[in-house]
Amino acid sequence: MADQHAHSGEDGRPTEIPAIRWEEPPEGPVLVLLDQTRLPAEEVELVCTDAPALVEAIRSLAVRGAPLLGIAGAYGVALAAARGFDVDDAANALAGARPTAVNLAVGVRRAHSAWRAEFAKRGDGAEAAGAALAAARQLHKEDAEASARMAERGLALLDELLPGGGHRILTHCNTGSLVSGGEGTAFAVALAAHRAGSLRRLWVDETRPLLQGARLTAYEAARSGMAYTLLTDNAAGSLFAAGEVDAVLIGADRIAADGSVANKVGSYPLAVLARYHHVPFIVVAPVTTVDPDTPDGASIEVEQRPGHEVTEIVAPQVPLAGAEAGGGIPLAPLGTQAYNPAFDVTPPELVTAIVTEEGTVSPVTAEALAEVCARARQV
Ligand code: MRU
Repeated sequence: MADQHAHSGEDGRPTEIPAIRWEEPPEGPVLVLLDQTRLPAEEVELVCTDAPALVEAIRSLAVRGAPLLGIAGAYGVALAAARGFDVDDAANALAGARPTAVNLAVGVRRAHSAWRAEFAKRGDGAEAAGAALAAARQLHKEDAEASARMAERGLALLDELLPGGGHRILTHCNTGSLVSGGEGTAFAVALAAHRAGSLRRLWVDETRPLLQGARLTAYEAARSGMAYTLLTDNAAGSLFAAGEVDAVLIGADRIAADGSVANKVGSYPLAVLARYHHVPFIVVAPVTTVDPDTPDGASIEVEQRPGHEVTEIVAPQVPLAGAEAGGGIPLAPLGTQAYNPAFDVTPPELVTAIVTEEGTVSPVTAEALAEVCARARQV
């Protein structure tokens, strides 16, 4: 079950936006999420007391973005364990809530394995629940650390590729602290450039149909004080043609072993544009987003979302959930069919570099990617 209560949102707030936290009130442990379907209109928290509520929050995109999905999935297992629900069932439901971002299944697996190992050792539910929570907390902390290291490496890469500063960076979807234990992936690099004085402008794609760019990235950019401009996804081509884009920075939901990158739909057309206009196309993602078990782009399962997200304008105040009409403002005649893949796949040959916390892969090859990921496993 989830319930909602609002918290303040005055000016002069810190740029850090905690998207998730674990709390232990006397009634029992809860997972508190910032409901991203309500941003930027209002900052409302969603309190999950069981795994089904979290599954619904994941499906409705109240909690979203690859790294945060991993963290949420791990806490979801801990929640089920701490409240005495069936942990195996909870882990299965959570891991399958959305198919494309591999971090979700990875996060769930990590907490579930910790719970199973502890339970097998002592047969004590409370100890096992503690182990699952410790695993979730550790993943949360590691993601924050990875975010800081990606920002550092990404900034170094920008300075190398674009000496002289004054970067005009185009980004797509939302990749800041709303999707991370830290400051995010691609957005964290832009933020580092902003702090270093080398970011001239962040171009923010609105990111149809659910407007993660307009609603969430613009919200993060405004809070950070950086110069940013919002554009419709379709305006990117003329922006490139005008010579106004120095680099593209995006995140990823899953990176296949061959370096193919699944990210929010609309990323692939940007990669094609970037190649045509000789602009670096840079992907920033933690190694937890690289899936060695997915050999290539064609093997990545792309989530198909309900058509009403395309046939209606879904205002932030309107919950995005629901397989039928979402209650938004209609754009198309009733009964119009819609094609609504949530992600697309960019082939490795269009990616200039993949920046991870363990190293930067450029050119993108399966061997170089595997080598960087192996560094993480050695720690
Ligand atoms: O459908 P969403 O909003 O979960 O999609 C998120 C994205 O596509 C992000 O770009 C991706 O998860 C990278 S976030 C670091």
